[in-house]
Amino acid sequence: MMLNVRDDFPVLKRIINDKPIVYLDSACMSLKPRQVVEAMNEYYVQYPACGGRSIHRLGEEASHAYEASREKFARFLNAAEPEECIWTRNATESLNIVAASVRLPKDAKLVTTTLEHHSGSLPFVERAKRDNLEIEVVEAKPDGTFDMDDWKNAIDSRTKLVSVVHSSNVTGTVAPLKEIVEIAHDRGALVMADDAQYAPHHPLDVQDFDVDFSAISVHKMCGPSGMGVLYGKLDLLKDMDMFLVGGDTVADVRYENGQIIPEYLPPPEKFEAGLQNYAGAIGAGAAAEYLQSLGMHEIEKHERALLARAINELQSMDEITIFGGDNIDIKTGLVAFLVSTVETAHDVATFLNDSHNVMVRSGAHCVHPFHYQHGIPPSKGTNRASFYLYNNQHDVDTFIQAMRELIAASS
Ligand SMILES: Cc1ncc(COP(=O)(O)O)c(C=O)c1O
Repeated sequence: MMLNVRDDFPVLKRIINDKPIVYLDSACMSLKPRQVVEAMNEYYVQYPACGGRSIHRLGEEASHAYEASREKFARFLNAAEPEECIWTRNATESLNIVAASVRLPKDAKLVTTTLEHHSGSLPFVERAKRDNLEIEVVEAKPDGTFDMDDWKNAIDSRTKLVSVVHSSNVTGTVAPLKEIVEIAHDRGALVMADDAQYAPHHPLDVQDFDVDFSAISVHKMCGPSGMGVLYGKLDLLKDMDMFLVGGDTVADVRYENGQIIPEYLPPPEKFEAGLQNYAGAIGAGAAAEYLQSLGMHEIEKHERALLARAINELQSMDEITIFGGDNIDIKTGLVAFLVSTVETAHDVATFLNDSHNVMVRSGAHCVHPFHYQHGIPPSKGTNRASFYLYNNQHDVDTFIQAMRELIAASS
């Protein structure tokens, strides 16, 4: 049984140039259901005040909704405590907080991969530069999978932090996270999972995966833009250095003998400096609740059915090469591909958009190393069609029809 939620997404009613839209760019940014928009509107209309600081009625309502949302998100992730979920601006910020603030010994080694989004690699590359640490890069295979021996060799007793993308935004391949966590923990290393692509599409139980940190893009999971989450085990969050300091992070700031002496709050306030995006957090809670009400297993099944149909059709065209393997069972609902008869990926995306309102992504998807590793210059790039709970078979068929027309026109 396929999901039938299109009525929840008002934008799907839009008609452009007499045609409906076919949105296949959810791996970049998902559409928003009215349940999320209404929850955020309620904040702006009913209690648009500051949570946490003001004790008046509106402030109290904002604080309550803000913290209730955190609890909803903790349930979505099965975090042990709501305090383990920090509101951030996006997954990039979540990754940066961990990379910059985890305390590491002077001779620590970091491990990352060629398949990381730049947001999952660069914060760790910069941390290594800052503290003169070694960083080893595990290479992904062309289909986006890994050789487990490479992980076993890379993670040694000096390794203290591993950054790994749980599901790739280029190949859609799901990493064997439990095995990687087991190797890392055996050798005394922490694991930062980049769940930006995994959390919106699969059931994610952070305790079951036993990850130490997880970065989540709320805007890719039906939530508002400008919102993300950092999950971290509470003791580890408590142990980290501050990232941003200032208002709302302090229990007290004393003034003694001409000195300003801060006493910081524990997580989550420790990492939520300044006035927060209350509407965003409330929307994030509503998004988590919305997805959970549909069931993450159902969403995963729905997307994989669409992906199987798309991959099957793409493989029947000689001019198309799928980039990143075709094993549906270990994939999130997206497919990246190259078209031999068209010069750049941007040309493909422009044709699909202009001819059929089919919206796909083009470029190197912020994963240049994996493109270079496989001989594809980012200026040529690849295309990516990504599916989500509101897409249907008609969307896949329109996409395939547009691809056939493009190939006929360019051959
Ligand atoms: C795998 C992956 N990691 C990290 C990010 C960065 O996410 P955000 O835009 O929330 O910072 C993205 C965004 O596309 C992604 O796909």
